[in-house]
Amino acid sequence: MLYIGVDLGTSAVKLLLMDSQGKIVNIVSREYPLSFPHPGWSEQNPEDWYAQTVAGIRELIKDADKSQVAGISFGGQMHGLVILDREDNVIRPAILWNDGRTAEETDYLNTVIGKEKLSEYTANIAFAGFTAPKILWVKNREPENFARIAKIMLPKDYIAYRLTGVHCTDMSDASGTLLFDVRNRRWSQEMCDICGIGTELLPKCYESYEKVGTVLPAVAAELGIPESTAVAAGAGDNAAAAVGTGTVGENMCNISLGTSGTVFISSGSFRVDRYNALHSFAHADGHYHLMGCMLSAASCNKWWMDDIIGTGDYGAEQAAIRKLGENHVYYLPYLMGERSPHNDPDARAAFIGMTMDTTRADMTQAVLEGVAFALRDSVEVAKSLGIGLKRTKICGGGAKSPLWKKIIANVLNLKVDVIESEEGPAMGGAMLAAVACGEYGSVEEIASKVVKIVDTVEPEPELVEKYEARYAQFREIYPTCRPLFGIISK
Ligand code: XUL
Repeated sequence: MLYIGVDLGTSAVKLLLMDSQGKIVNIVSREYPLSFPHPGWSEQNPEDWYAQTVAGIRELIKDADKSQVAGISFGGQMHGLVILDREDNVIRPAILWNDGRTAEETDYLNTVIGKEKLSEYTANIAFAGFTAPKILWVKNREPENFARIAKIMLPKDYIAYRLTGVHCTDMSDASGTLLFDVRNRRWSQEMCDICGIGTELLPKCYESYEKVGTVLPAVAAELGIPESTAVAAGAGDNAAAAVGTGTVGENMCNISLGTSGTVFISSGSFRVDRYNALHSFAHADGHYHLMGCMLSAASCNKWWMDDIIGTGDYGAEQAAIRKLGENHVYYLPYLMGERSPHNDPDARAAFIGMTMDTTRADMTQAVLEGVAFALRDSVEVAKSLGIGLKRTKICGGGAKSPLWKKIIANVLNLKVDVIESEEGPAMGGAMLAAVACGEYGSVEEIASKVVKIVDTVEPEPELVEKYEARYAQFREIYPTCRPLFGIISK
């Protein structure tokens, strides 16, 4: 049998075809536009997602035996607000996970409703990118659009809806809405009341590995796949990536170096920290996880390479980097504001520390290091909660760079296990489809049979020590700049 994993990302949809043994048969990627209508805003057109997903699936399976396609599932960019009217028209462009427009609504939730209540209802506090503040933003700023809302969904759920006609989501993605009672794995009536919406607007919530339906006959005909093809609920991209890298069970860690950067720690049982510094979300394996999320990770390097120095040859730029642990230039990676741990939509990116002898390579190195330092900020929060980490998996586009993996291993002082393929969410999506179709008994079973570690990057004690000192300096920069960010971001 064949399973399709759809990773509905921010810059592109990545599609992966996997066979019953977990072997990757094909991978295809198709881009779509991302618009920033105002500084700090971030939107996409759900129709673009669907058009590119369908075109991508056709390309993915063009040389395969289509009658063997048994299941489709997803890893999707989280938190995005997709709203449909009664006729299933998309009411406005989706407001994405890295959109910072909801500072006021976030503030209202955290201070007027109060963090304690939010944490009691949802196990989380409000962050600008979460879905509930966006619903409030639409209610406050676009009342005519708010009045038309008949269905609310998350990005990947729009694809599932178009494929099956079922209004569904999964527990991991629902966790990032701030409308979901994570501990009890159900929608929170209190949060719906706070946002002024009825629960009937929200999708039915499934476990990630559950089948929600089969493809609509018209979709089956368009794609040339059987009408019996099952669609499983899938997961938020980080939980799907964790499945794809085998990050299931107690205290396993995965770092995702995509547009966002995340530190994902799996857990067999529900837990939440006193300050809600890390997100406490449901996992795609039926359990839970903690997560720190930075808004610009591999996207910082892409921005620096493509837009600023104007090169596509990332390898050549990185080859010029020689003095790890000795760079005097620091980079704050807050191109879209920052989520974890600062929760500050006004934060901005910055280079600091240049002198007349600073080179282009030093600046490139600072970008890679700045992202690693910011990931360490989340690892430090985990440590402060008594979570001891020794090793991590890694995935995402940035994980293709051996140098970046080495920097991360040494800045975080963690062994970095490299998986056969860095396509975490797409692989996880295909694996969830295989579980939904009964090919494997559980997410744990498929993860233990299919995921293979092919290399481990070991931290080097001397370099760890050098980076320890650099990180201590990096930590001073954001608090120093913060008052200024509040002024210059306006
Ligand atoms: C997680 C988050 C990002 C997006 C990226 O909380 O906002 O990782 O899911 O697609």
